[in-house]
Amino acid sequence: MNKVLIIFCIVLFASCNNDKKKELSSEKEELVMYQPSELAILMEEMYVLNDSIKSQILRNETPTNFPEKLLNIHTAEMTDRFTRDESFQKFAKVFLEQQQSIYSATNEEIQSNFNNTINTCIACHQTSCTGPIPRIKKLLIK
Ligand code: HEC
Repeated sequence: MNKVLIIFCIVLFASCNNDKKKELSSEKEELVMYQPSELAILMEEMYVLNDSIKSQILRNETPTNFPEKLLNIHTAEMTDRFTRDESFQKFAKVFLEQQQSIYSATNEEIQSNFNNTINTCIACHQTSCTGPIPRIKKLLIK
């Protein structure tokens, strides 16, 4: 196996297991061939969405218009080593309910609805893809 191929393999396996992907990609920009799955891209969008919801809550604003796109969590194509097993489906359902509840929450409820949503992200990740957990925890409102 040549060097490029080895680095490719490392990058491929790093995305969910640890943060090496980021290090490698800045060092070896030209070698990165990591192709995120539809689900991985959706996850990144969910991260950005919840980061902006967090800012809104901290400014005493309520987000409007739940993005229907999130429903694709049930169908988006995922990296081969993950499966939509029973536990994934269960967490996906709870997650969507929690995420939707933020949009109809009162001022008193909104912070706990938001933190419950993020805790559901973390709970699902504990069963499958532990790498991003430290990053996801940063979304929690203290
Ligand atoms: C139902 C289970 C489940 C829930 C809920 C969930 N995730 Fe994920 N997440 C996954 C799986 C599985 C992957 C791996 C996807 C793949 O590689 O195809 C993933 C991947 C990711 C990634 C890495 C994407 C990449 O670049 O490789 C991030 C970041 C992430 N999720 C953040 C979140 C955030 C933030 C939330 C909540 C707002 C969340 N996830 C909710 C299962 C879940």
